[in-house]
Amino acid sequence: MGFLRGKTCHLKTRTDLFYWNREIIMPEKRKDIILVVDFGSQYVQLIARRIRENKVFSVVEPHSVSLERVREIAPSGIILSGGPSSVYGRGAPVFDVRVLQEGIPVLGICYGMQYIASVLGGKVSRGGRREYGRADVKFVTENPLFKGLSPKSITWMSHGDKITRLPRGFGRVAKSGNTSCAAFRKVSGSIYGVQFHPEVEHTVEGAKILKNFIFGICGCKRSWTPESFVAAKIKEIREKVKDKEVILGLSGGVDSSVCAVLLSRALGKKLHCIFVDNGLLRKGERERVEKVFKRNIKLDLTVVDAEKLFLKELKGVEDPEEKRKVIGRTFIKVFERAAKKIKNAEFLAQGTLYPDVIESQPFYGGPSKTIKSHHNVGGLPQKMGLALVEPLRDLFKDEVRVVGEELGLPGDMVNRQPFPGPGLAVRIVGEVTRKRLNVLREADKVIMDIARKRGIYGKTWQMFGVYLPVQSVGVMGDDRTYEDAIALRAVTSTDGMTADWAKIPYDVLSEISNRVINEVDGVNRVVFDITSKPPGTIEWE
Ligand code: XMP
Repeated sequence: MGFLRGKTCHLKTRTDLFYWNREIIMPEKRKDIILVVDFGSQYVQLIARRIRENKVFSVVEPHSVSLERVREIAPSGIILSGGPSSVYGRGAPVFDVRVLQEGIPVLGICYGMQYIASVLGGKVSRGGRREYGRADVKFVTENPLFKGLSPKSITWMSHGDKITRLPRGFGRVAKSGNTSCAAFRKVSGSIYGVQFHPEVEHTVEGAKILKNFIFGICGCKRSWTPESFVAAKIKEIREKVKDKEVILGLSGGVDSSVCAVLLSRALGKKLHCIFVDNGLLRKGERERVEKVFKRNIKLDLTVVDAEKLFLKELKGVEDPEEKRKVIGRTFIKVFERAAKKIKNAEFLAQGTLYPDVIESQPFYGGPSKTIKSHHNVGGLPQKMGLALVEPLRDLFKDEVRVVGEELGLPGDMVNRQPFPGPGLAVRIVGEVTRKRLNVLREADKVIMDIARKRGIYGKTWQMFGVYLPVQSVGVMGDDRTYEDAIALRAVTSTDGMTADWAKIPYDVLSEISNRVINEVDGVNRVVFDITSKPPGTIEWE
């Protein structure tokens, strides 16, 4: 019982011990869910997505998840993520060891593996040599986790500590040049650990390993499909909303559009959408939203024309944060006024996604430093006394797109690039005026046309123009010009958190420059922004 020692042990009495030794979640009660326990890994969302790519639902919980919560989720398998700490370090994240006795298959990755080893009586020590990056690993392919793998292949490692003594009842099932225990398993039972990261692409057979765990070891079925999601959500929304009315702020972006169609399938005329035209939109955006949602899908859509009010409030405002705050405040004022006209509304729908839910979990601690005040309707429900409906809160962005397609939304709508809530205002450096907005709108249209025509739109996370009130001298025909500049911003990214500037071919850059200068009045120079994030941000303000 060596593993009952130490601060990670939560058992206090004999009754606890008796209780602990019983297998509580019987296999037949387990759902087709894999629980991912977060020890602070940068890959935790990637692990969750890898599982879903196999059509199996996954949930992420912080390492402090209680045994009761695990039982409530009733997963068929648990993955303990990696993390930046050392298991023997001060304040290292801990996990309720009783969960390991529930009879549920467990896979520990990196820190997760070391954690299993240390709480079950093994030993973890600082390795002589750290192992980062590529490592050749030899697998014992007779064991279920590595079934069907080549005897040797490339993995990706990132660790300083290593397991120097296995817990009793465990055996090694893989080794690398630097680590004699690159993977282990409990000889009788389904607890596994891998020192490398099967979730990253550099681990050549990582996808096979995860499949072996999910299907071979945990026995999951492929039940997480867009159809099953839509059917289950419609039922859930109806049960929650009953005969009440629901309001949704429709922006025309992917999340609120998918949310609108899903809710209208569930609630019909009980859904009321409000679209605020703040005058900061791209060319033709309002007309497009009206066409798709009012005429084609026949939603109850109120379009509020608030351009004048927004421009009035933004007059003279140059500071980026101040701009964002003015826009946020004005939006709430306009939205509330429109919402009051909808009688008996008790719910406000929001397109919150799973990454937002994960990032607001306690593991991530208090609010991080504000780089930009994002514009959203987060404060609205409390203020308006409305309950929330968030039908997309289980989904990652790519899943929202698939669900959108399943619901019949046009492809160009579900595959749109993100557009910020404060709109073109954060793409105009300095004061926002109607004239500058018009110039930027025209430039944006040219850039979008070329991006689509040249097949770059789908390959970049975002591509857009930024208005720079920096005048420079030029010559057009025989005339001198002295006009403003447009900066082209084009980035690649997977989640918007980090980004690289996109390597747009020279001939495309050339076409953009030519057409913007020739077709947009008031611009005589185009520059290309080659800053990654960090240190830059994607939007200029
Ligand atoms: P930054 O500029 O912070 O942008 O690197 C990261 C991503 O977020 C988008 N963005 C916003 N989205 N409300 C939004 O809904 C906002 O206030 C906002 N500001 C930035 C930005 O377009 C990029 O995709």
